[in-house]
Amino acid sequence: MRAAVVSGLGSWLPPRVVTNDELTARLDTTDEWIRSRIGVVTRHVVEPGTATSDLSVEAARRALRSAGVPGAGGVILATTTPDRPCPATAPEIASRLGLIDVPAFDIAAVCTGFVYGLGVGAGLITAGIVDSLLVVGGDAYSTILDPQDRTTSVIFGDGAGAVVLRAGSPDEPGALGPFDLGSDGARSDLITVRAGGSRQRSSPGAVPPGDEFFRMEGREVFANAVARMAAAARTALKRQGWAESDVDGVIAHQANVRILDAVSAELGVPRDKFVSNISDVGNTSAASIPLALAHGVRTGELRAGQKVLLTAFGGGLTWGATTLVWPELSLAD
Ligand code: UT7
Repeated sequence: MRAAVVSGLGSWLPPRVVTNDELTARLDTTDEWIRSRIGVVTRHVVEPGTATSDLSVEAARRALRSAGVPGAGGVILATTTPDRPCPATAPEIASRLGLIDVPAFDIAAVCTGFVYGLGVGAGLITAGIVDSLLVVGGDAYSTILDPQDRTTSVIFGDGAGAVVLRAGSPDEPGALGPFDLGSDGARSDLITVRAGGSRQRSSPGAVPPGDEFFRMEGREVFANAVARMAAAARTALKRQGWAESDVDGVIAHQANVRILDAVSAELGVPRDKFVSNISDVGNTSAASIPLALAHGVRTGELRAGQKVLLTAFGGGLTWGATTLVWPELSLAD
């Protein structure tokens, strides 16, 4: 029986750091509000002209070096901020990595995208369609935020993270466990960019002002994020045959530090087992989970042999969770 095994990990953040003070200079907000209500102190933001593919290629290169391999048999990019509406961004990433003629496509599941990408990648590997894959979570959210919207501008940051998946066996460290993936399209209005698709094109003057920007109903999203991440985590753990008390480390989507507190309480897994880098990078959407994985490896919170739970929630609405025993791997510069 084949399994998809995590064999490399890489991350990349654009160099420009935006502090809370920089945001308070132009928005009606305070450093204290942002720190206490969200847990963000700084976030990284792309310079004009830098796109999601640029971040993703850097992260993917590091993942390949971490795996000690020259290439992979395909690329899946999870993103909400593709370089352009058409074509997908993943083929360009593959080409820039020198991966010739490999399958490459994007996944749109907002902040759950990376976990969806792992699930789809695991399916391609276990079905024998490919022998290895790069799964990248990359987002340049700053390019879709309304700079005047204090409810979103303070939360999000840009970045990319990637893993290499290779074919292996289910009982080796790094093998992805069972998944729980879900969606609720009846609440698609809670997290949305209204214009730019087939329902509402984004030609100048043709759409109501502001509809080209990302919008979020924060309070309702908060409640859904806690309930869905905890429920997906419980289901994935059950399918894996692990109890909550077996879990050594949790990598949950870094949406809000209070969401992490609430998921910990709801799941009954102690908060100190939750790896968190939201204070440094904010909510990086599809990049959130792989960036937190890299942070956990760097700080030593994630160590080989630990039982690890991944859980995410995002627009769609979408949610997903899976498990793995953390493999022996090191990060590449
Ligand atoms: O990644 C995808 C999933 N995303 C998430 O999971 C994010 C989920 N939601 C959240 O993280 C939180 O709901 C927010 C951070 C967006 C908002 O925090 P909250 O504690 O839910 O605040 P709220 O929306 O209930 O607003 C409380 C107050 C409001 O003022 P009033 O109506 O009580 O007078 C807001 O207008 O805080 C106000 N507010 C702000 N004040 C200062 C909203 N944004 C800000 C701000 N600075 N930046």
